[in-house]
Amino acid sequence: MALREILVVPHPVLKQVSQPVETVDDELRALMDDMLETMYDAPGIGLAAVQIGVPKRVIVMDISGPEEPKAPQYFVNPEILSASDDRLPYEEGCLSVPEIYDEIERPARIRLRYLNYHGETVEEDAEGLYAVCIQHEMDHLEGVLFIDYLSRLKRDRAVQKVKKLTRV
Ligand code: NI
Repeated sequence: MALREILVVPHPVLKQVSQPVETVDDELRALMDDMLETMYDAPGIGLAAVQIGVPKRVIVMDISGPEEPKAPQYFVNPEILSASDDRLPYEEGCLSVPEIYDEIERPARIRLRYLNYHGETVEEDAEGLYAVCIQHEMDHLEGVLFIDYLSRLKRDRAVQKVKKLTRV
């Protein structure tokens, strides 16, 4: 396993649409292992492969609380099968937009389909933080960041802040 560099805005790769994975093999599992290690190190609760410069439809997450045992989750080629009409506001942040937080509204409940770490198809319902986080990560696969939902003014200000923060 290895730590990878996390790309931050306004890196152009973050705007790329990620490509579907054809097979879940050892090479892909090695990528997912690196992603998980990188996410824990950051620390964060979700990471899409494109955030380390690999535009494939792969996500890792762990939304367990600080006092709970680790609960890594892996999503390959995730799809949203249905989404509730009611929406949940949640203050989001992103490892690619460090130190910026803002409230975003998304469907409160969704039904998901994806391939897991072993390449098995899983279908399940998500709500609460799980629903928020997987929708945020799936946006990354389309080249969408949570700041894209903010006003242009707020978005530009966020990018400027990150630029200043990451300038050495
Ligand atoms: Ni993010």
